Amino acid sequence: MRERVSASAPGKIILFGEHAVVYGRPAIAVPVSHVQATATITPHEHGVIIRSINTGESIAIEAADPDHPLAAITRLTLAAFNIRSADLAITVESSVPIAAGLGSGAAVSVAVVRALAGWYQRAIDAETVSRLAYEVERLHHGTPSGIDNTVIAYHRPVYFVRGQPIQTFSVARPFSVVIANTGRPSLTKIAVGDVRRGWEAQRERYEAWFDQIGAIVQQARSAIESGAVEQLGPLMDQNQALLRNIDVSSPELEHLIAVAKRAGAAGAKLVGGGRGGNLIAMIDASHRDTVAAALQAAGATQVIITTVQ
Ligand code: MEV
Repeated sequence: MRERVSASAPGKIILFGEHAVVYGRPAIAVPVSHVQATATITPHEHGVIIRSINTGESIAIEAADPDHPLAAITRLTLAAFNIRSADLAITVESSVPIAAGLGSGAAVSVAVVRALAGWYQRAIDAETVSRLAYEVERLHHGTPSGIDNTVIAYHRPVYFVRGQPIQTFSVARPFSVVIANTGRPSLTKIAVGDVRRGWEAQRERYEAWFDQIGAIVQQARSAIESGAVEQLGPLMDQNQALLRNIDVSSPELEHLIAVAKRAGAAGAKLVGGGRGGNLIAMIDASHRDTVAAALQAAGATQVIITTVQ
């Protein structure tokens, strides 16, 4: 018997298109490997126990709330593998900040699925990993588009339209973004639910805003594919203005966005659910360090620079 199997999954950022993607518009997302969730499996005497290093929790899945995300992904994966009884310990550790728009939930789910696949020596494709992780997203996000589990399971840049096969795209010229955490937790479920209520109350306005976000995503894809990266900053600003309209920004996000722009970022926007969590700012090589330092000085709790290529 194997003694130990580990698997990891990255975080993610949505470059353009969050929220509108829930309503059928496209979005562009990329994995962020600077942050990772890792699941490690070791033998255990009786049943399945799941430990989270981050929260200090230790749960036996037989006794766990069926909606507990770690228990749910473990149960779903064991069922997919036709395993009825298992004796193992799953230890989960993640550097993907929780409730921050970087896909922490999907990253943990994908790491657990891949670790169980490794433990039981099952070949599992990215589509199946993504589908299992999506089931857990559904428990916790109400109406998720599926973009988080997709970009994290496939581990590559995606152009995503809900319900359609994933499309990848080429990056003609690599570009960098700064990712900065406001430190204010952002619960995707709440933001998504509030947007739904806004959409129900003012359907035409929201549909028009979602259309405009969809058009920005198309332009961003063309810019990325043709190497016109100087267009991406202004497109981020336009996307942020529309995210503001649908009321998912926050004073903390607006403050750090203004700081990044004053320090030389070409554009900036929130990422993920919003209301807090992370923002991204488009930077060229000459502004990289000044923007990162300004964000840190202004109170960002974590600053990461990632290159999309
Ligand atoms: C969350 O990372 C992105 C949202 O668009 C929700 C979703 O797509 O399910 C806010």
